Amino acid sequence: MYVCLCHGVTDRDIREAVENGVNSMRQLGKELGVGRQCGRCACTAREILRETKTSDYLAMANMLAQPA
Ligand code: FES
Repeated sequence: MYVCLCHGVTDRDIREAVENGVNSMRQLGKELGVGRQCGRCACTAREILRETKTSDYLAMANMLAQPA
């Protein structure tokens, strides 16, 4: 789904950016332009950012918890 209509950014674009190291709304704005024009997308983008970071963290924690 489109999150930022001003810059044509989808939720998938945001998740990919987080997987490639984007860690904050400021970085997301620099990379994709999210929240840099009208700002209506900021709340949704922040939620996707938080959700993706949490799921990445849990996946890594589960991987590290596995016996070698
Ligand atoms: S919808 Fe993202 S800046 Fe306008």
